[in-house]
Amino acid sequence: MRCRNTCKIRVLCSVDRVNDAILLDAEPKVQETIDTNVRIVPVGLGARSYDIVIGDGLLRQSRNLISTRHSAHRCAIVTDANVAGLHLESLKQSLGDICAGVVTLDPGEGTKSFYELGPLCERLLELGIERGDLVIAFGGGVIGDLGGFAASILRRGVNYVQVPTTLLSQVDSSVGGKTGINTPQGKNLIGAFYQPRLVIADTELLETLPERQFRAGYAEVAKYGLLGDADFFGWLEQNWRNVFTGGPERIHAIEMSCRAKAAIVQADEREEGRRALLNLGHTFGHALEAFAGYSDRLLHGEAISIGMTMAFEFSNELGLCSGQDSQRAVRHLEACGLPTRVEQIPGDTPTPDQLLKLMAQDKKVRSGVLTFILVRGIGEAFIEGGVDMSKLQDFLTRKCN
Ligand code: GLY
Repeated sequence: MRCRNTCKIRVLCSVDRVNDAILLDAEPKVQETIDTNVRIVPVGLGARSYDIVIGDGLLRQSRNLISTRHSAHRCAIVTDANVAGLHLESLKQSLGDICAGVVTLDPGEGTKSFYELGPLCERLLELGIERGDLVIAFGGGVIGDLGGFAASILRRGVNYVQVPTTLLSQVDSSVGGKTGINTPQGKNLIGAFYQPRLVIADTELLETLPERQFRAGYAEVAKYGLLGDADFFGWLEQNWRNVFTGGPERIHAIEMSCRAKAAIVQADEREEGRRALLNLGHTFGHALEAFAGYSDRLLHGEAISIGMTMAFEFSNELGLCSGQDSQRAVRHLEACGLPTRVEQIPGDTPTPDQLLKLMAQDKKVRSGVLTFILVRGIGEAFIEGGVDMSKLQDFLTRKCN
């Protein structure tokens, strides 16, 4: 079902970049015409504030959405071949003569590397992208992270807009300014915190997303309920089917996720504390992803679903969280068709030692000590710096058999 309310209204947007050369207006009062089914989530970071605009069919309004917030005369699109085949024409048409060119990369995690970063930056320079122009990162998490990182180093920083095309990137990776690339030593170990100027989350683009990808992205939606909002989690338990089929519930779930993320990013932009909560399920999950070779064997969201299950079950074993809450969390992930057990990963199963070694690569490790995001219940995640390693080893031994 698609809800399209055509009633037009005037809204005020929260653009507030007082120190910025691209400033349109120092006051938060940029006006635009949008339909009432469009949601705007402001990310308040002072001079680096921006809006996340969420709604059906926004790609066709890209130029309007950008030009009401940004005075750029030129932009370059960075995308991948899959997204280009499906949606590039629509974005180009909307941008019209401000589009200086397109850089189309191979799809997949392998693109997020030094080998692609160099030629991408050179291509953007060839297209004449200057300070004050825009890079538009048009794709899923890989393109968002790579395009954002290229923007952060090009001419010591040019502005960029995220146009995320997957559920996972709409609710997580496009928001909050984490950009970067992978190296053989691990995922996202090179990068920068560099905020976009705008996020355009066109929910219509999710119609072409393969179901498995959508489901994996949903794990990150459930994450926001599980980590900090028991009411939202309860709502998801009732409404997840409608989130999967589309319509107003889907837009609501994306909006709630972006609001939760924006609140955390506003409180702790550079992950010096609270932002680490967004990594619920990620210490276990990243290790599983690395074990599976960052391949189709296990998508990121699937790894996070197993990882969140492990975080709840480990918290329960440590006496921190009730069995009832732990089972409730796992039941919901299973109901949505997400994997929750290590043995559901196709192929061989990791040994506990393999997982521990991979966990030691986690970015939250400080002086060799692992930090975990554990839970006291649904919606009550917290950061735990001193996990008993022998209990962890016992737990992993049971989970990996
Ligand atoms: N995806 C976790 C973060 O943005 O902090």
